[in-house]
Amino acid sequence: MSTPGSSPTRATTPETTEGSAVGSDPPKGGAGAGETWAVLRMMRWSAEYLEEKGVERGRLDAEYLLAHALGTRRLQLYLQYDRPLTPTELDAYRPLLLRRARREPLQYIIGTAGFRELELAVDPRVLIPRPETEVLVQMVLDRVEGREDLTALDLGTGSGAIALSLAKEGPFVRLVATDDSADALEVARSNAEAAELAGRVEFRRGSLFEPVAGETFDVVVSNPPYVARTEEDGLEPEVAAWEPADALFAGPDGLEVLRRIAGDAPTFVEPGGLLALEVGAGQAATVSEGLRDTGAWSEVGTEKDLAGRERVVWAVRASGPDGTPPPDAA
Ligand SMILES: C[S@@+](CC[C@H](N)C(=O)[O-])C[C@H]1O[C@@H](n2cnc3c(N)ncnc32)[C@H](O)[C@@H]1O
Repeated sequence: MSTPGSSPTRATTPETTEGSAVGSDPPKGGAGAGETWAVLRMMRWSAEYLEEKGVERGRLDAEYLLAHALGTRRLQLYLQYDRPLTPTELDAYRPLLLRRARREPLQYIIGTAGFRELELAVDPRVLIPRPETEVLVQMVLDRVEGREDLTALDLGTGSGAIALSLAKEGPFVRLVATDDSADALEVARSNAEAAELAGRVEFRRGSLFEPVAGETFDVVVSNPPYVARTEEDGLEPEVAAWEPADALFAGPDGLEVLRRIAGDAPTFVEPGGLLALEVGAGQAATVSEGLRDTGAWSEVGTEKDLAGRERVVWAVRASGPDGTPPPDAA
């Protein structure tokens, strides 16, 4: 992970009492710093500074970073608006602010991302888990409600977000999580340990279904890479420059990995079992159609994300040669 340099090239302190961040660099705490920086003043200055650098929610991010530097919770800052920051605190905060100004994602700087009931460690070896994926997990949990002793497979587990959430919240006795990135699996394993779920999820390295050849599961779930290479230029710097390319891109139209999963899934999903896939905006119809065309699924449907876009495609594995589902279909 890169850290910003410590020699600012422009003015080091704001000129007015309130301070304007425009054209300035973050204040230093060391000798020669001179000025008093109270919590509220620093938050306001930082918000303007980050927004000048193109960060969308400058104030919120500044609050998270300052809280992290001070070893406190964000809301605690609201109770100490007038408290002057010590030189040590300023020195702890400054590099974090500089990193965010370089558009490094907030979660990589802080080192964690919240996902459903979990606090996951994240760094540039893994994708930062997204709220859309929480919807995917919820959809799976809703569909298996009331059932017991299920098995599940999470393809492309990254930080472990999906597999660990299913282990924590669902009726699963056995979960396998795969990824072809050894780095990602290292992060996922350590998240499993931290969440005390290591005994419940088995992590295996390999491409898609390769590590589970010959096995079947009640649920197969995946948030695979689905960004089209042609969309690379339109991505925010936080994504394009920091998140792992292998977690993002899937060929010229973004559907390369989804096609492979849809093609192989019938072999690995139990009759009556569930396949649940996160897809990119605008991809749901194509993926659903591809699944229907195989004739392997008795039911195919979609689910909307929090913004009302169809971002999950699910399918129930047919059980008989005529495609009829068994009576206890998920
Ligand atoms: C979009 S990320 C999802 C990470 C995590 N499941 C989540 O939802 O936050 C996709 C993951 O799939 C992995 N991946 C990409 N291609 C793969 C392949 N062919 N086989 C296995 N894993 C793959 C990447 O390394 C990455 O961790």
